[in-house]
Amino acid sequence: MTSPLTIAIDGPAASGKGTIARRVAEKYALRHLDTGLLYRAVAVLCASEGIPLADAQAAGERAVRLDPADLKGEGLRSAAAGRGASVVAAHPPVRAALLDWQRAFATLPPGAVLDGRDIGTVVLPTAHAKLFVTADPDVRAARRWRELSKDHDIAYRTVLQDIEERDARDAARPDAPMRQADDAALLDTTNMTIDGAITEAIRLIDARLCT
Ligand code: C5P
Repeated sequence: MTSPLTIAIDGPAASGKGTIARRVAEKYALRHLDTGLLYRAVAVLCASEGIPLADAQAAGERAVRLDPADLKGEGLRSAAAGRGASVVAAHPPVRAALLDWQRAFATLPPGAVLDGRDIGTVVLPTAHAKLFVTADPDVRAARRWRELSKDHDIAYRTVLQDIEERDARDAARPDAPMRQADDAALLDTTNMTIDGAITEAIRLIDARLCT
């Protein structure tokens, strides 16, 4: 019996990895999990239940009780939820609680595309194909600002600062920091349209799956 196909797509905020992961999942007829949503949901639930985001143990206990329905909660895509997510994501008990969840999702037939920060390095180190998607911080901030400013009055500088702080926190944490896996292909989308980035991602993944 062949093992379910798994594809790991990592990278920083607004690099394009989420859209790429969704389209790659469609292309290979796989399920898709945006793992950032798990950390966002833990942060939002902690905040609404009065659990301090800095309390690693209590946040970890909340993460253990995470329910799939929690991923459909209100406000998960907000900038505040993203900031909170990167705080709780630094806590080892939170990461440990979410690890089995992610692996169980990925290994259910026919397999899955997971996008996040540590998929290729920690969650699925033996994934069949791995991509690390990145772009210059100012280009990522402009993309995120265009999205957020549709519904909110928000300054570009605020979005850029938020992205830079999150990048720094995600890359510096000792447990599962954001980094390119040694065997991941690098895709820099700075000068690409989203359609161009998807085409290139599929080309890179096809090349990995054929070797
Ligand atoms: O990708 P997204 O912006 O939704 O992620 C929110 C936060 O969740 C990230 O800044 C990061 O701190 C955390 N995260 C993580 N590991 C993942 C996915 C997200 O630490 N696999």
